[in-house]
Amino acid sequence: MLSTTCLSTLLAATAAACNLYVASYDGNVTTLSLSTTADGGYESEVIYTNPGCAGSPAWLTLDAANDVLYCLDEGNQTPNGSITAFRTSASGELTVLSDRETITGPVSSVLYGSNSSRAIALSHYAGQAVSTFSIAANGSFVPLQNITFTLPGPGVNPDRQTGAYQHQVVLDPTGQFILVPDLGSDLVRILHIDPSTNLLQEQPALQMPPGSGPRHATFWSPDGNVSNGYGTNSTLYFYVVGELLNTINGFRVSYSAAGGIHFTPVFSTNTFGGAPVPTGAAAAEISISPDNRFMVVSNRLDRTFKIPNFDPNNSTAEPSDSLANFIPQADGTLLFTQIWPAGGLHPRHFSFNKAGDLIAVALQLSNRVVIHERNVTTGYIQWPVAANAVGEQPTTVVWDEE
Ligand SMILES: *[C@@H]1O[C@H](CO)[C@@H](O)[C@H](O)[C@H]1NC(C)=O
Ligand SMILES: *[C@@H]1O[C@H](CO)[C@@H](O)[C@H](O)[C@H]1NC(C)=O
Ligand SMILES: *[C@@H]1O[C@H](CO)[C@@H](O)[C@H](O)[C@H]1NC(C)=O
Ligand SMILES: *[C@@H]1O[C@H](CO)[C@@H](O)[C@H](O)[C@H]1NC(C)=O
Ligand SMILES: *[C@@H]1O[C@H](CO)[C@@H](O)[C@H](O)[C@H]1NC(C)=O
Ligand SMILES: *[C@@H]1O[C@H](CO)[C@@H](O)[C@H](O)[C@H]1NC(C)=O
Ligand SMILES: *[C@@H]1O[C@H](CO)[C@@H](O)[C@H](O)[C@H]1NC(C)=O
Ligand SMILES: *[C@@H]1O[C@H](CO)[C@@H](O)[C@H](O)[C@H]1NC(C)=O
Ligand SMILES: *[C@@H]1O[C@H](CO)[C@@H](O)[C@H](O)[C@H]1NC(C)=O
Ligand SMILES: *[C@@H]1O[C@H](CO)[C@@H](O)[C@H](O)[C@H]1NC(C)=O
Repeated sequence: MLSTTCLSTLLAATAAACNLYVASYDGNVTTLSLSTTADGGYESEVIYTNPGCAGSPAWLTLDAANDVLYCLDEGNQTPNGSITAFRTSASGELTVLSDRETITGPVSSVLYGSNSSRAIALSHYAGQAVSTFSIAANGSFVPLQNITFTLPGPGVNPDRQTGAYQHQVVLDPTGQFILVPDLGSDLVRILHIDPSTNLLQEQPALQMPPGSGPRHATFWSPDGNVSNGYGTNSTLYFYVVGELLNTINGFRVSYSAAGGIHFTPVFSTNTFGGAPVPTGAAAAEISISPDNRFMVVSNRLDRTFKIPNFDPNNSTAEPSDSLANFIPQADGTLLFTQIWPAGGLHPRHFSFNKAGDLIAVALQLSNRVVIHERNVTTGYIQWPVAANAVGEQPTTVVWDEE
């Protein structure tokens, strides 16, 4: 755990450097250090790289409380994927704790279970599966389950919907269910967690619009109060981003006394706030701001903007994909407020710092991570304050501010 308080413009007087971890398809996990400068600006630099998650690092899950970073190797050049656990440190150095082969194509992971019985679930895109491991006290992975899925029928999109591509694993706020957007099947798979074993049991799936290609999802509650028992039907919504049609579908969530989770459609829009979708666009990530007031979605391949070149010696403007900003309303609708340049091409993943005044974006096809300032009052994303080249094809970026 870092002993320092991570920087924030709101706490500039006491600011200290903080670290970000970046996974890249070139095989490295890179540590970036971000610090404030005397003139109130920011400085960022690559301070460490580790090839322990090679060959195709695709996703990071940080367990900040326990100083462990989980990295998934998608296995793009090998028959299998793998999962690596790194011990983190304030210096940015990562040490491999354990490593294990998995079904191919892991692209997302989530921790679940209790402190005394922890497990991790992985969604496999190419592998068309969800796999789970329990995490032993010494950090090693003990295989629990491999659940494979099949397409219910021919996909609407013949190019992309050729298999049951499991794109993300999302834990519900009660910790009882794992929701799995399946891009190929236009479903969100629903898996119930047995708390005594951490084994998953499949329940009837949530149907998504045909051809939408569910990719990533998030829960949101107007009161943001996780402790007040979402399980007792306080207001809770679930939003799913469809990569193929650039849709956002919102559902009201309820739980039945018999142990089920239920979804009622409440709202839909597109990831451009209702404006026409640019040809070729492929929405990627969705995330709620730390203050629970805003939702940001990333758009890839939309080329909505031209921005000043990041190379100061190049006066030609460069194309940029976008980030879309929404304010979720108490009735579950989304108020579109802003579309903003992501800072380059293919914003596959982004994350907010804890204070919410910075947002870091992994730009897969610009080979850089860009950190934008963000106004916490209005939620508006603003111009970049830092940018770093981070090898080839960054896929995920997470903050370590403990
Ligand atoms: C990983 O980083 C190291 C150190 O910067 C670099 O030498 C190496 O080329 C990188 N690996 C790949 C596959 O890019
Ligand atoms: C679980 O562990 C975390 C981190 O060590 C701790 O903050 C939390 O209080 C623990 N929860 C319970 C229920 O023990
Ligand atoms: C690796 O992948 C191959 C081909 O899919 C599979 O037969 C084999 O069981 C996998 N190996 C391990 C250790 O999972
Ligand atoms: C770690 O714990 C697991 C499960 O208890 C055990 O099978 C394995 O041998 C241990 N590994 C080491 C290196 O101690
Ligand atoms: C799941 O598949 C992986 C990769 O083939 C294998 O290593 C692991 O043992 C399997 N898990 C179970 C529970 O069978
Ligand atoms: C959260 O819910 C709990 C239980 O209903 C309540 O005691 C607490 O005051 C709520 N906290 C906030 C910040 O609303
Ligand atoms: C949630 O609401 C549903 C429908 O009104 C009801 O059947 C169910 O018992 C409620 N669940 C809980 C845990 O209160
Ligand atoms: C830009 O050009 C100047 C002058 O040729 C050179 O010193 C500098 O290193 C270049 N900067 C970059 C980022 O390439
Ligand atoms: C300058 O930037 C443009 C736009 O990104 C790019 O197409 C071009 O190759 C760059 N020129 C050089 C010399 O790097
Ligand atoms: C954020 O926006 C509000 C409203 O426009 C403005 O009053 C405030 O100064 C802005 N904060 C920063 C840090 O720019």
